[in-house]
Amino acid sequence: MKTFLHVADIGDLQTALNEAAEIKQDRYKYEHLGHHKTALLIFFNNSLRTRLSTQKAARNLGLDVIVLDVNQGAWKLETERGVIMDGDKSEHLLEAIPVMASYCDLIGVRTFAGLVDREADYTEKILRQFIEYSGKPVFSMESATAHPLQAFADLITIEEHRTKARPKVVLTWAPHPRSLPQAVPNSFAEWMRAADVDFVVTHPHGYELDPLFVGDAKVEYDQFKAFEGADFIYAKNWSSPGVTNPADYGQILSKDMSWTVDAAHMAVTNNACFMHCLPVRRNMIVSDDVIESERSLVIPEAANREISATVVLKRLLQDNF
Ligand code: CP
Repeated sequence: MKTFLHVADIGDLQTALNEAAEIKQDRYKYEHLGHHKTALLIFFNNSLRTRLSTQKAARNLGLDVIVLDVNQGAWKLETERGVIMDGDKSEHLLEAIPVMASYCDLIGVRTFAGLVDREADYTEKILRQFIEYSGKPVFSMESATAHPLQAFADLITIEEHRTKARPKVVLTWAPHPRSLPQAVPNSFAEWMRAADVDFVVTHPHGYELDPLFVGDAKVEYDQFKAFEGADFIYAKNWSSPGVTNPADYGQILSKDMSWTVDAAHMAVTNNACFMHCLPVRRNMIVSDDVIESERSLVIPEAANREISATVVLKRLLQDNF
């Protein structure tokens, strides 16, 4: 594995889950792999869980870690080629990438979707430049269209809590006051399709996910119907992916509060576990009582971010050095 963006990059999922279980037993088992190597974690956007869990994972593997917040303390970076740089951006990404790469062995990048230009976002314009010009193994810490470290942690969490061979897993859209990217639902859909689960997506019309990620997964527009018999409810807001109407890309098409996951929704499930990647807006996405219930997995799910990141960084070290 030289890059980590899609589920295919990790190979056989059961093997990856076995590695996750092994690392959970002994987080420092592969501490020797990172000796005298450095991971550079570059954040173009805010983060709590990814920032902390990826640093912890790197240290589990004996790596040194450098964290760069591009928009706090570094020169402002121009990302478009051909621009006359007479504005406030002092450095071009095309110089910055090889310079940053010269100080490290692995690069993690967080760069959110702009939600204006669908093509730029869905071709992963910024992440692809890191892959092309750094010459180093690159992994996504949430890019424009995907959040694979989150989806892998979600899969580990489902594996740990499932009580049947093939659980029903429902991804549900829920309302939010701001326009959010599709990275988390895209990756969750991609990873659930690859896993052995009965996967259903529910959202209002206009929120259809890109076929690259959602494939032929079942879509049910009636949220209560989708929830019936579910074993896991995974809530997330996303803005319109612009699949049915390109002009809607990045737009908020609904703030329908009847989609908020509350006790009435959970009552039609098979005593489902509740999941969300966090951060979460309470009483927009999910009611207080549901997120605080004993069926809520949001904290162990976030804790598993350390485990998914340790597996991914371990693979990058083993496969490239
Ligand atoms: N779930 C997640 O990626 O959290 P952060 O944005 O805080 O890193």
